Parts: sequence; C-alpha cells; structure tokens
Amino acid sequence: MSTIASLIDKLAQERDLPDQELLELITTTDSAANELLAARADKMRQQYYGKKVYIRGLIEFTNYCKNNCYYCGIRAGNGQAQRYRLTKEQILDCCAEGYRLGFRTFVLQGGEDPYYTDERICDIVAAIRAQHPDCAITLSIGEKERASYQAYFDAGANRYLLRHETAAPEHYARLHPASMSLANRKRCLFDLKEIGYQVGSGFMVGSPYQTPANLLADLRFLQELEPDMIGIGPYITHEQTPFADKKSGTAEQTLRLLSILRLMFPYALLPATTALGTIHPNGRELGLKAGGNVVMPNLSPVSVRKLYELYENKICTGEEAAQCRGCLEARVRMAGYEIVTDRGDVAKSML
Ligand code: 5AD
Ligand code: FES
Repeated sequence: MSTIASLIDKLAQERDLPDQELLELITTTDSAANELLAARADKMRQQYYGKKVYIRGLIEFTNYCKNNCYYCGIRAGNGQAQRYRLTKEQILDCCAEGYRLGFRTFVLQGGEDPYYTDERICDIVAAIRAQHPDCAITLSIGEKERASYQAYFDAGANRYLLRHETAAPEHYARLHPASMSLANRKRCLFDLKEIGYQVGSGFMVGSPYQTPANLLADLRFLQELEPDMIGIGPYITHEQTPFADKKSGTAEQTLRLLSILRLMFPYALLPATTALGTIHPNGRELGLKAGGNVVMPNLSPVSVRKLYELYENKICTGEEAAQCRGCLEARVRMAGYEIVTDRGDVAKSML
C-alpha cells in the first residue's frame, strides 16, 4: 500500500508519472487505493473549484445515426430502435424550460443524423443564441468537416463534446466499423480546438477488448489534446448490438480513472456521468467524491427519453426536467457539494 500511496502523492505533485507507474495505478486491485485516490482527487478538486458542481442541461434531439459503432444502442444497424427527431420548436422549448430551472449551458446531443444539415444546425444554434445570449451552447453531434464546425461556431456554438472513445488505433478498430478511424476523430478534435471551441473528449471504461495499455494511451492522448472537459463512463452492454454478450465496465474502475484524471488535469471539467449513475445507484455521488465537478441532467421531453438508449437501463428516463433537476440537486447536496448555475467555464486561468 505504501508504494501506491507514494505514487498517488507523486501524481498529485507532478501531475504526471512514467508509464509503468501510471499503469500500476490504473490496474491496482488494492481496495484501499480507490479511497486514497478519491480523497486526494477531491482535495485537488476543492483547491481549484471548491465545492462547486456545474450543471449542463442535456437535450438528446435525435437518435437517428448513420454510424454503426459496435457498442452503441442507437447504431444504424439496430433495426429495433424506434427513431425520433425533435423539431426546432421542441428544442427551443427544452431550452426555455431549462433556463427557467437555472441552466446556463445547453448540450445538444444526437446521433450523426444527416437530416440535420449544417444549415439546420446553424439555424437552431442561432435561435438558441438569440433567445439565451447569456448561455453557453454545446454541440455533441459527432464527426464533421472543419468547415461545418466553423459554421456552427460562427452561428453561436461555444463548446463541443466528442469523445475519442479509445486512443489506441487497433482497439478503435475493434469498436468501430472500418468506415470510421481514430485518425479522423483526432483530426476533428484538433480542428475544434483550433477554431476556438472549448472541447470535451473522453472514453468508455471497460469497453470490450480494452487493456490497461489502452487506458494509458487514453491518458497520454488527453495530455496531448488538453481538453477543457473529459467525460468518462463505464461501458454498459446493450442487447441489440454486436457486443450483446460482452461484460459491462465497473464503477470501481471508472472511479479510479476519474480520480487519476483529476490529479493529471486539475483544471478540467469532469462530469459524474449518467452511465456511472446507471451502473451503481450512487454512481454520480461517488463520481463527485472522486474528483468529478459536473452533472448533466436530462432536459429532453420525457416522451422520447427512453428511446435515446445508448445502453441498457439508463437512468433519468421517466422524470420531467424539473424533477430530474431537483433530484440531482438533492443528490449533489447529500454528497456534500453545491450546484452552481453560472456557465461554468473551465478554470484554465488557474493553471
Ligand atoms: N455504454 C456506455 N457508453 C456508451 N456510449 C455509447 N454507447 C455506450 C455504451 N453502450 C458513450 C460513447 C459516446 C457517448 C455519447 O456515449 O462514449 O461518445
Ligand atoms: Fe434525473 Fe434523479 S437525476 S431523476
């Protein structure tokens, strides 16, 4: 244990470790290690962000997707998925309700749906921008050409979430069909940064075929990208995918990586994700205690929530926006933190 404790101290001080030592932290089976890591990560988080937890209102506006990622429930090849799209008016209604509830960041997330041409996305973004000039608009709509990203930015989008999913090319190829590549994913992320977006990336923990070396590659890639936000959650299996018989990731491993991320990226916005709350009843609370500082309650209309099923048994699908907001607020408070309603830009100025 003493070696683990000294590794944690060293990571907290230097924000980095040699490969071999990082691997030791990634793979430790010492049950006390997670607790130590979480305590150190929480201390670091409090140095940078105090007890603040930022909320982002998530609007899942389409579950059509042209891609066929092997892990995802809304992949094009899932003929059993019931598809939906929200209209511009529905999206604006979600934002208005969110604004009333105190949200100052809206995250528009969807599959890669060709119906939403650049023109349509820009029209929606511009309308939100006009109605809510004081809010941050985040897009999470996948891989696009640089010119498209530029157009959304010019229309008023400020942030973009695109998880790299795995930074090891051979692992990427086992999770995605040959039409997709890690190289293009990375190109997208660097384009987004250059354009001026605040960028979020991230990966699934415990995805099929993932090795400790793959996780190490994820951490190294994030050091190169220096994203503002890093979203990680456990992989959770979905019956209607080619990975139906694969095991889900665990809360323990996800929490361990969350804490490692907090120590390596003290300024980062780290969400306690819905997937973490799905795999463990107190997953999001534990995520906050392990270094997380963002939660993303669902603002989508209740009528479509169950349909945005990336993985099985997703939580928060039956509650109205106000209920979900209230529920999360109570959970955050119980965990010892406080929700703040400002835009929550990254604290990079503290670097
Ligand atoms: N389990 C957990 N996370 C998933 N995602 C997609 N499918 C799954 C799954 N089965 C994640 C991906 C994607 C994000 C929107 O959701 O990391 O980037
Ligand atoms: Fe959504 Fe509890 S956080 S219902």
